[in-house]
Amino acid sequence: MRHETLAGQPRIPTEVSAMTAASLNVKPAYLKIANVWKAFGDFHALKDISLDIREGEFVCFLGPSGCGKTTLLRAVAGLDLQTRGSIHQGGKDVSALPPSQRDYGIVFQSYALFPNLTIAKNIAFGLENTKRPRAEIDSRVTELLKLVGLADQGNKYPAQLSGGQQQRIALARAIAISPGLLLLDEPLSALDAKVRTHLRHEIKELQRKLGVTTIMVTHDQEEALSMADRIVVMNHGVIEQIGTPTEIYRHPATLFVADFIGEANKFEAKAANGAAVGFGAASFSCTQHGFDDGAPVIAAIRPEDVIPHAINSLANGAATNTIDVTISEMEFLGSFWRTRLHGHALGNETLIADFSINAARRLSLTEGVQLTVELPAERLLIYPRGA
Ligand SMILES: Nc1ncnc2c1ncn2[C@@H]1O[C@H](COP(=O)(O)OP(=O)(O)OP(=O)(O)O)[C@@H](O)[C@H]1O
Ligand SMILES: [Mg+2]
Repeated sequence: MRHETLAGQPRIPTEVSAMTAASLNVKPAYLKIANVWKAFGDFHALKDISLDIREGEFVCFLGPSGCGKTTLLRAVAGLDLQTRGSIHQGGKDVSALPPSQRDYGIVFQSYALFPNLTIAKNIAFGLENTKRPRAEIDSRVTELLKLVGLADQGNKYPAQLSGGQQQRIALARAIAISPGLLLLDEPLSALDAKVRTHLRHEIKELQRKLGVTTIMVTHDQEEALSMADRIVVMNHGVIEQIGTPTEIYRHPATLFVADFIGEANKFEAKAANGAAVGFGAASFSCTQHGFDDGAPVIAAIRPEDVIPHAINSLANGAATNTIDVTISEMEFLGSFWRTRLHGHALGNETLIADFSINAARRLSLTEGVQLTVELPAERLLIYPRGA
């Protein structure tokens, strides 16, 4: 089944078309955001944002409060026009079009359902504006209720549903007219943790099934990492990095990204010739960094990337990038141990390291125990200082 859009472009098919990462790579840009600026008076909420989103892709805008996520989403929706720059959707310049002439469905943090309309009528709302025959609307509503797992709930009113159920209805309403683009602004943040995790899966599955190009705004890194094909990390109105969840997590382009997504130990360090860096009283090899010899840098490493070894257990020569430390504190966090480590090589700095339950048992780790830790060269992240 195919529908026509308001703008007369072909709509996405409603049948299943599972989208794989590989197939996404060959898709052309469906949404093109080029050099977009947004000013509120003297304040620039968006500064020269450029971004291509491929057809069928699930993209998250992730960043701290006030970084411009909603502002960018509202520009894409035409709810608040950009000050400069252009937005193309499906090859068409939509930069100056009002929302009614754009092709998207949107879900907000607050469910924003019409309280005086039944669930079925809420979902049918957009369809009724397209003047389709009653029978077609009814069957589409039934199909959508089933799709979001709420068949038989059509005659209830929004107040009779839980928050999670209401957000599913908001989702059904947003996809009812098979929009080319699905926009979600923190759709899960008003829900409690369990419902949130559950709905995360449901939304992702639904998006895959429909193959609808989707942008979701979130400030929850876990949500972005688990749902997005690509994450756009924003800060102060600029894009810090665009990449897949693993790229962003494993290879954060800036110290901000390393810090905002996941956790990172940070040490003031000095770059050394080639692929090396020195901090505390030790020197470490790392991946090629391109800084001058002696340049002030920040060396960062994630707590889970620190590898524990029994003290004096490494043969001479096998001990590269290792230092001897003592466990000052050990905190049980359920699935792993978080430790605070100190040692001569670290000077006054503390190294936070996460060790698996198994490693802790195998090495009999407790507070006061000495061990050797390895900071793998490829996991040491080097950034300019003061950036
Ligand atoms: N209508 C407006 N007038 C003036 N300033 C605004 C307006 N809308 C947003 N801003 C400012 O623009 C910046 C970006 O706001 P935006 O709502 O896009 O942030 P956000 O990333 O969505 O944050 P949050 O995670 O808190 O929703 C903020 O500093 C905000 O105060
Ligand atoms: Mg927002």
